[in-house]
Amino acid sequence: MQRPPVTLEVAGDKSISHRALLLAALSPATSRLSNLNAGHDVACTAAALERCGVEVVRQGNDVRVRGGLLRDPVGVLHLGNSGTGVRLLAGLLAGAGIEATLDGDASLRSRPMDRIVEPLRAMGADVTAERDGRYLPLHLRRSALRRLDYDLPVASAQVKSCLLLAGLAANVPLRLRESVPTRDHTERLLGALGARLYIEDGELVLEPSLPLRPLQARIPGDISGAAFFVGLAVLVPRLCLSLPGLGLNPRRTAFLEILRSMGGDIRLSPGADEAGEPVGDLQVRHAGGLVGVDVPPALVPALIDEIPLLAVVASRARGVTRIRGAGELRLKESDRIASLAAGLRAVGGAVEELDDGLRIEGMDRPPAGRVETRLDHRVAMAFAVLGRVPGAAIELSETASIATSFAEFPELLARAVA
Ligand code: S3P
Repeated sequence: MQRPPVTLEVAGDKSISHRALLLAALSPATSRLSNLNAGHDVACTAAALERCGVEVVRQGNDVRVRGGLLRDPVGVLHLGNSGTGVRLLAGLLAGAGIEATLDGDASLRSRPMDRIVEPLRAMGADVTAERDGRYLPLHLRRSALRRLDYDLPVASAQVKSCLLLAGLAANVPLRLRESVPTRDHTERLLGALGARLYIEDGELVLEPSLPLRPLQARIPGDISGAAFFVGLAVLVPRLCLSLPGLGLNPRRTAFLEILRSMGGDIRLSPGADEAGEPVGDLQVRHAGGLVGVDVPPALVPALIDEIPLLAVVASRARGVTRIRGAGELRLKESDRIASLAAGLRAVGGAVEELDDGLRIEGMDRPPAGRVETRLDHRVAMAFAVLGRVPGAAIELSETASIATSFAEFPELLARAVA
């Protein structure tokens, strides 16, 4: 018999929380944000902004922000594990003419920064990075930025948003071309703030837009965090979960299509927009009889952060699941292709590591073994979910990394399966 639905409230979206703080920092009036993501990454962005003279007053997950004139921070700004934090903040500070050094933990120091350094230099920014301009720490010196007309060479919302924030803060025009659409939270927030941003012949155009209005917004629930509970309900017999108030931006929800095509029973009820984003509720129940699928490479940018979860679900589906066109996964908090392949093998799975993805064979045997998370929050959460299938015996090398994005995850997981 099915259990009654358990309702889980997932805290604010990490991507939108970073952007809301950074945009609020440009307004001299007071912005009010509620349901801010409570993870370490967003806390690092908030702390770095404070060091640049922005007032950030937090009460639980609500925050009041007063920005305006930024000042040079004293000492190095540490962005911890956060790729979004460091890349977006670099754009904002370069545009605002701030002198600063930005750094991060060992994982962030191994992730490429040339993807932002090159276009920022093309705008006239005086920015240098270590090891041939490719890695943190990043050093910004005061400079006046000029307009940019640019083809984004990688499908990256972080690069796109870095440049939008640089153009915005410097009050210079931008014209950007994306070959593949990536998450558009920055654009949506800018629209809600009255910025002069539009699409013309498929190009993203930003005209000088300062001063911005202050931002008043509730951050929608984090769909990438909720994804782990969607996967849990799909995998665990008799489970039914209700997940209200989630951001349902179509550039983030492609994993729902994939899980449905694997046999997941997922229902969606749309609600009113928040922060310029579509928001709604999900109800997910175990359906049984999952089947493997080929994930279309064109969908990868819209499910990039959900691949760890999809990989563990695929390990329980009949047949083969192929994920290709996902080379960017090697440049995340860990090399996620390698981390997932090693983790699945460690629990008895049959998986082939491809240059740009994974080939996963489903198995019936309960997964058992010790998984190295490689300090990657999404790898840890994916295997924590797999560890809840009947008969599983999975040990994780650590779970502290989960607080990077989803501080409430362990408590919600315990409630979901109680
Ligand atoms: C993010 C964009 C994606 C995503 C990351 C968050 C963002 O990275 O993987 O978790 O908030 O812009 P890329 O832009 O590097 O693809």
